[in-house]
Amino acid sequence: MNNLIIKNAHIITPQGTAARRGKEMTEMLHINRGTVEITEGIITYVGPNLPGNKSGYEILDVQGNVLLPGFIDSHTHLVFGGYRPEEFLWRINGDSYMSIMERGGGIFNTVRATREASFDELKNKAEWFIDAMSKMGVTTVEGKSGYGLDCDTELMQLKVMQAINSDPNHKVDIATTFMGAHALPHEYTDCRQTYIDFLIQHMLPLIKEQSLAQNCDVFCEQGVFTIEESYQLLSAAKAMGFGIKLHADEIVSLGGAQLAARLQALSADHLLHASDEGIRALAQSNVVATLLPLTAFTLREPYARGREMIDAGCAVALATDLNPGSCCSGSIPLLFALACIYMHLTVEEAITALTLNGAAALNMAHKTGSIEVGKWGDLVVLDTDTPAVLPYYTAMNSVKHTIKRGEILK
Ligand code: NIG
Ligand code: FE
Repeated sequence: MNNLIIKNAHIITPQGTAARRGKEMTEMLHINRGTVEITEGIITYVGPNLPGNKSGYEILDVQGNVLLPGFIDSHTHLVFGGYRPEEFLWRINGDSYMSIMERGGGIFNTVRATREASFDELKNKAEWFIDAMSKMGVTTVEGKSGYGLDCDTELMQLKVMQAINSDPNHKVDIATTFMGAHALPHEYTDCRQTYIDFLIQHMLPLIKEQSLAQNCDVFCEQGVFTIEESYQLLSAAKAMGFGIKLHADEIVSLGGAQLAARLQALSADHLLHASDEGIRALAQSNVVATLLPLTAFTLREPYARGREMIDAGCAVALATDLNPGSCCSGSIPLLFALACIYMHLTVEEAITALTLNGAAALNMAHKTGSIEVGKWGDLVVLDTDTPAVLPYYTAMNSVKHTIKRGEILK
């Protein structure tokens, strides 16, 4: 039973059970010298310090330091075989991400390695990343399949995440996403529709039956999956009850943002090249615009227009995109720095983006993402009394404690 009282906290949290958009992203509850009580893993009190001590609770006195909701990394590809350091070196010498993929490298390189990897290899590696991220304050992480592109390996990736979720040594929750449409397997070059049909008619029902994924994602991009193919797959997934997400407008401006709005997706992710029309469509919808500045940084691409999106009224989330290719980083401190320094988000906006809006992008905002009675006791204690350290301690970890359902992990 995890019963914990955190007292003398500078509590800062967005509030609600849905994504905050536009100006709402800066509206935070602030309580100085506050207390949060967690009973059996669930928050049961948030407010000013209370006199006296309650029995049956562990007490954590944080002496005026900042207390935030646990961070929610709503976009990663953390289950994969092999690594691609050679491609990274080619890219920093001027090669492009897409030209490497067109030559049979990129995602295909990791597909080969993942098909060869054992279950335990995949699990151990994913656990290493999750443990590193939990030390940076992550309490919920999303993980995608998409490095199998065949039935057995796609299922294996999802089962690895299921196994980590039920392993008592790992407390961070993984929200699972099926991404069989990450690339077109070479076997299907001349029959693209057959692969889409295979995903819709065979894979999605199988995954649903075994409850292996909550969401379905597609790499909607020039040279990968078209708008029409993405529409077919995602509308079928939605009809089967999956939450839907898109890698949208990452490399070129294809109209993925508009498609996400049309399909009422949970999120449209990347959006480096989202058009004005795409941004307007997102602002008028409930789709979370999930920005991944670590990827723009490592690909040396211009950052997504985060400031403009928020000013236009979008609900923006931030996530890492941890993967072996375009962005082999799960660094939450660097993510805050890039979001605030280069995408011009305020510290409050960045916090909302990495907590409540991340939860909404996973359809989990009713359970986590803010410090409110009834939600999971998932919290972060910073090392200081000001949240400015999140970007100011640039790329350095300012998290003192990560708390998951009332249990102090760090
Ligand atoms: O989000 N763009 C597609 N998927 C990943 C990269 C995957 C990879 O290169 O292995 C992304 O950037
Ligand atoms: Fe991605």
